[in-house]
Amino acid sequence: MEICSSIIVLDPKDNSREILKSYLEELGFSDKIKLFADYNEGIREIKENPENLIVFIDITDCSEESFAAIEEVKLFTSKIVITSSDYSTNSIVRAMRLGAKEFLPKPVLKEDLQRILSIFLQHGEEQEDTASKIITIYSNKGGIGKTTIAVNLALELAKTTKDKVALVDLNLQLGDISTFLNLNPAFDVSYVIKNLIDKRDETLLKAFEKYKNTSMYVLADPSYIEQSESITPQQITELFKTLKRVFPYIVVDMSSNIDPNSLKILDLSDWIMFTTIVNIPAIRNSQRCLNLFKSRRYPSDKVKIIINRYMENDEIKIEDIETTLGEKIYWKVPNNYFSIMDSINKGVTVSEINSNSNIANSFRDLASKVSDDIVEMAITKYRI
Ligand SMILES: Nc1ncnc2c1ncn2[C@@H]1O[C@H](COP(=O)(O)OP(=O)(O)O)[C@@H](O)[C@H]1O
Ligand SMILES: [Mg+2]
Repeated sequence: MEICSSIIVLDPKDNSREILKSYLEELGFSDKIKLFADYNEGIREIKENPENLIVFIDITDCSEESFAAIEEVKLFTSKIVITSSDYSTNSIVRAMRLGAKEFLPKPVLKEDLQRILSIFLQHGEEQEDTASKIITIYSNKGGIGKTTIAVNLALELAKTTKDKVALVDLNLQLGDISTFLNLNPAFDVSYVIKNLIDKRDETLLKAFEKYKNTSMYVLADPSYIEQSESITPQQITELFKTLKRVFPYIVVDMSSNIDPNSLKILDLSDWIMFTTIVNIPAIRNSQRCLNLFKSRRYPSDKVKIIINRYMENDEIKIEDIETTLGEKIYWKVPNNYFSIMDSINKGVTVSEINSNSNIANSFRDLASKVSDDIVEMAITKYRI
């Protein structure tokens, strides 16, 4: 059980501040409550006593001050709850993207409050299990663009959310991520599996290569094929469990094979970005793979279809693909051979080659959509 030193409430409205206070008292937190009508005064208190905080920030008025408060408070604690009587998703999504972890709708219900407090008190400062998302880029064919998408999506997610994003190379025998990013990492997946499961978070982070001055952390594939052969599905499960403690987002690149390790990765992923291109053999193969996902009873919102190398005037239309696959297309990444080749040759992402190219924009917008959709999924658990 976590200790909590104080519960800070930042809310300009006198009555709702008092209601929250009375519930917190009933729940046994009388000696920990500190109430502030003024956001800045509250932040001053937080700066003076920054240890073990849970902070409630009201955003009913959608004031810039309230959003700025979230950003400031995030520097001291991740346990931020926003309260609001305005259930419009836009403001909630904005607050969540700035760093709020939970939403408490007003008028506050004691059960909702109790549930949120118990989440924060049971889990440590790090992400609770369910908040962290494993996003796997998969295709049952090679050369489709999995690594390209994994690398560029992971970096844009890190830039958009400012959260820690792990980019993990689970293409255990033919990993390309280090080459794509021109890295020469000292550690790899097999080292983490053998030595760092259940180790302290700081120790674990050291096995990752932090990418330039971003919040993307890269974990490379094993250097020797023998090392990858000894990795088991059980170890993949432990690896993910360990990574989920530290990273809000885990982006996984993997091989096209369907073997026990691959199935384990796919089963444990929260999202599968299933990638295909517009041609008949690829679409046929995709159909077979989507059937496999159905037979494994993946929920329908787990699999998102991405069309890579998309060209506007292709003979095969997107609607035709959607009809054939019986699924909506989630995203289209444009064909841009020169930018991609240039980025791979230089060992950087496409946004570092030209941040205004159609392909750089596409990855940036994809990252925003992914993070928005994840936040929206998280808030549908509340009564909105
Ligand atoms: N959007 C794109 N536009 C043009 N070429 C692309 C695109 N995405 C990938 N490619 C090309 O496809 C090749 C294979 O991509 P890669 O990401 O290595 O695929 P995979 O990981 O699925 O094997 C790359 O070398 C690149 O030349
Ligand atoms: Mg690859």
